Amino acid sequence: MKKLSKTSLNYYLSEYLEDLGRAGVKDFYRGDEAKGAKQPPENAPESAERAKHARTAAPAPKPARRAAPVVPIRGPESAPAITAESDPEGRAAKLTELAAQVAKCALCPKLVANRTQTVFGTGNPYAELCFIGEGPGAEEDLQGKPFVGRSGQLLTDMIEKGMGIKRSSVFICNIVRCRPPQNRNPEKEEANACRPFLDATLEIIKPKFICCLGSIAATNLLHSELPIGKMRGKVHEYNGAKVVCTYHPAYLLRNPPAKKQAWEDLQLLMAEMGLELPER
Ligand code: URA
Repeated sequence: MKKLSKTSLNYYLSEYLEDLGRAGVKDFYRGDEAKGAKQPPENAPESAERAKHARTAAPAPKPARRAAPVVPIRGPESAPAITAESDPEGRAAKLTELAAQVAKCALCPKLVANRTQTVFGTGNPYAELCFIGEGPGAEEDLQGKPFVGRSGQLLTDMIEKGMGIKRSSVFICNIVRCRPPQNRNPEKEEANACRPFLDATLEIIKPKFICCLGSIAATNLLHSELPIGKMRGKVHEYNGAKVVCTYHPAYLLRNPPAKKQAWEDLQLLMAEMGLELPER
């Protein structure tokens, strides 16, 4: 693997991905956007599957308000250079290596034929919170970064204005790392093929909290067939991480009234994380 400059790298994967490009690692990540009418019905009936992963029930608790509008979960806001102290486990290098593997992946012919590049994920390798979306769209495909289009802007607002933390303090990735043609849902086989990359990413970052954005993320991560309307509003568990599922930002753009429930979900997540509500 290529040796990376210590001075130019920092905690935030978005910056170190740029170094990768300079180091010759191409096709690293890509992007998309608002996925039309892709979301399945949000209020389909409940089944026995529900109890399998659910741990606590809604309604979301109400955390106390706090003054600071935006704070990082951990670490300073300006990214420090990577050193043995700042990256004791060498997570940046591990993610770099994994991303290079993803860039070479050709397991899904329909996705490979359609992609500009793979979209690995961006964020803090030491993030306590990881957001998982569905798959890159057109804009993400072009830029190589997740959630950089319209729904990405809403996600940024949810994280920064809603939760009061920096987007750069979390890690963001998707169930599949290539753009599905015409922004269709990823097929089950495609999600399964990409799963080892998702699990390897989570094993490196070891997030304590995961937020699944939409039905594709929630059902695939938790091996559930429930609609998102039945999975949201409670805390699930995955490999030791607490998981909160909520509506996909693209769905929220199409259905603004659902933002109320999404905000309840974020409050539930914040309560689990011990975060107070930002001042409004
Ligand atoms: N929607 C997703 O699910 N993921 C992205 O990266 C962008 C939009």
